[in-house]
Amino acid sequence: MTSDEAPQSNGEGTASTSRPPSFDTTLASQARMYDYLLGGKDNYASDREAVEQALKVWPDMALSARANRMFLGRAISYLATDAGVRQFLDIGTGIPTAGNTHEVAQAIAPESRVVYVDYDPVVLAHARALLTSNEVGATDYIDADLRDTDTIVRQASQLLDFTRPVAVTLFAILHGIPDPDDPHAIVATLMDAIPSGSYLALTHLASDLLDQAAQDGLVDIQGQMMRRQFTQRDRGQVAQFFEGMDLVEPGIVRVEEWRPRPEATFAGRSYMWCAVARKR
Ligand SMILES: C[S@@+](CC[C@H](N)C(=O)[O-])C[C@H]1O[C@@H](n2cnc3c(N)ncnc32)[C@H](O)[C@@H]1O
Repeated sequence: MTSDEAPQSNGEGTASTSRPPSFDTTLASQARMYDYLLGGKDNYASDREAVEQALKVWPDMALSARANRMFLGRAISYLATDAGVRQFLDIGTGIPTAGNTHEVAQAIAPESRVVYVDYDPVVLAHARALLTSNEVGATDYIDADLRDTDTIVRQASQLLDFTRPVAVTLFAILHGIPDPDDPHAIVATLMDAIPSGSYLALTHLASDLLDQAAQDGLVDIQGQMMRRQFTQRDRGQVAQFFEGMDLVEPGIVRVEEWRPRPEATFAGRSYMWCAVARKR
């Protein structure tokens, strides 16, 4: 979809932190800003302007986005290859781009089943590109908010067998969940719904890596241009998401440091923590 073809505002342009984004193209959205950072075309002037403003206070933001996306590929490969996972619940999918979860997983294990979840209407508009499973595997898309765990578990269990291991992936989404919404309880609820031998993989903006001036600058930009706020978290808060689980080596590290591939080395440092862990 090009910007010209995009749906128009539904009049809900005053989205607060707790509401899903609307089609109001005068406000920047996380999904479309990330698309712009990755070099995609499914974004609007408001998204591009918000990214340009953010780059002034955090010049390495695009680098972190790319490193995050590269980690997604390595994490899904690890889960499909080393961990033998065949079922994936990818929450906070984003606008489809190169190397979507089902493409990576099914290239390794064609029978892989992937359920995508996102709450942004622009991602929903692109969902067809995520439903291009091969014939032996399967994909599905759920239009839902991460906080609505009942809906996610109920609908995902139509495609995924919740008596067998599932990998829950939460890449670059949890910093969108403020503390009052208890992101740790949300993750625990999802992990309670799946059996021992399942996995959790996530990435998160790092409050203890990004300097305070950049964090303050981002707060202003997000408030003005997105009407929402992200909650960056430190390594200890990220570790809490994995309580009672066994972290896969090398544990909680910057995204580019997690099992880097010699053929795809990454120049620079990201400001995002990541980890993969197995449920006992
Ligand atoms: C930065 S993108 C990340 C895309 C992809 N996971 C990746 O890492 O490449 C974050 C996505 O999470 C979605 N998202 C944010 N908060 C959400 C929520 N509460 N429920 C569902 N989706 C959410 C956004 O709409 C966006 O598409």
